[in-house]
Amino acid sequence: MKRIGMLTSGGDCQALNAAMRGVVKTLVHSKEDVEIYGFLDGYRGLIYGKFRMLTGADFSGILTKGGTILGTSRTPFKTIQDPDENGLNKVEAMKQTYHKLQLDCLVILGGNGTHKTANLLRQEGLNVVTLPKTIDNDLWGTDMTFGFQSAVNIATEAIDCIHTTAASHGRVFIVEVMGHKVGWLTLNAGMASGADIILLPEIPYDIDKVIDKIEERDRNGSRFTIIAVAEGAISKKDAKLSKKELKEKLKDRKYPSVSYEIAAKIQEKTGREVRVTVPGHMQRGGSPCPYDRVFASRLGSKAGELILKGDYGYMVGYRNREIVKVPLDEVAGKLKMVDPDSSIVKEAKLLGISFGD
Ligand code: F6P
Repeated sequence: MKRIGMLTSGGDCQALNAAMRGVVKTLVHSKEDVEIYGFLDGYRGLIYGKFRMLTGADFSGILTKGGTILGTSRTPFKTIQDPDENGLNKVEAMKQTYHKLQLDCLVILGGNGTHKTANLLRQEGLNVVTLPKTIDNDLWGTDMTFGFQSAVNIATEAIDCIHTTAASHGRVFIVEVMGHKVGWLTLNAGMASGADIILLPEIPYDIDKVIDKIEERDRNGSRFTIIAVAEGAISKKDAKLSKKELKEKLKDRKYPSVSYEIAAKIQEKTGREVRVTVPGHMQRGGSPCPYDRVFASRLGSKAGELILKGDYGYMVGYRNREIVKVPLDEVAGKLKMVDPDSSIVKEAKLLGISFGD
């Protein structure tokens, strides 16, 4: 008999259900007796003992369903060791829930913050297996996270739609793509949709270089320009500030986001008409794309295999085209960022895409 606790934590994404289904199908198929405790709304469910007993039937028909059947929430790692508003020690509470239910392991699906807490629980002696979810694709230790390809599809379609209207009107258009810290999604959606300028957190931009590219296109007879901007894109000037200074500066920013600031600067310096589109949380919603359905199922199946073997303390990841187990210690607390010197960036530049650097 295996008693499994399962939870999804952090921002949701496509294929969370597909991944959980993969785990459960593998366990059920093995004929091992399993009890599944589905913790509600992420770590909160584990802290406050809120769960639903689930069976194989609960995971049937959810391969294509977006969101998470368990619900999710953000439980920031930086305050996980602080008592809650009633003085409850959250880490001890999670351990108590685990031991009270006599769980064999926790299956935790999440991104960066989630992995830090998962690793803490491992260090506290709990058996943990994790799965890498996020549209940002920024988890260390895996070449790919599930949700990413689905979000690339949505962001790409958004930019494709903008392309036609931008061309008709001869406008400069900015599409803001999700990703506060990393630019994988913007880079891939930008390249897939033929964006002319791509601005990423990892490659600080110079607004004059951005304008140079727009004017070069004008001179070459292209009446419009598409700029894909990551939420966390940053100017060269701001990149020189300390974290604290930048936080202070952003508090006083009169624009809702970096894209509007860039739009205002382009408008002011060139007199061109600039429009901003923000697809926002659409990028995390809807059905997983076929790639993510297969990928999440493979990850889930490997997690199921690890559970059956009692092989704990790993994230199931993807490296060099193989599904592999990666020690949680290696993953937690590190971000996988776009390397400005990577071949994909070089190739994009050869295509004529400007990064504003
Ligand atoms: O981590 C995924 C993500 O969608 C980021 O790309 C985005 O910056 C952030 O979450 C948005 O967070 P929230 O849903 O809490 O507004």
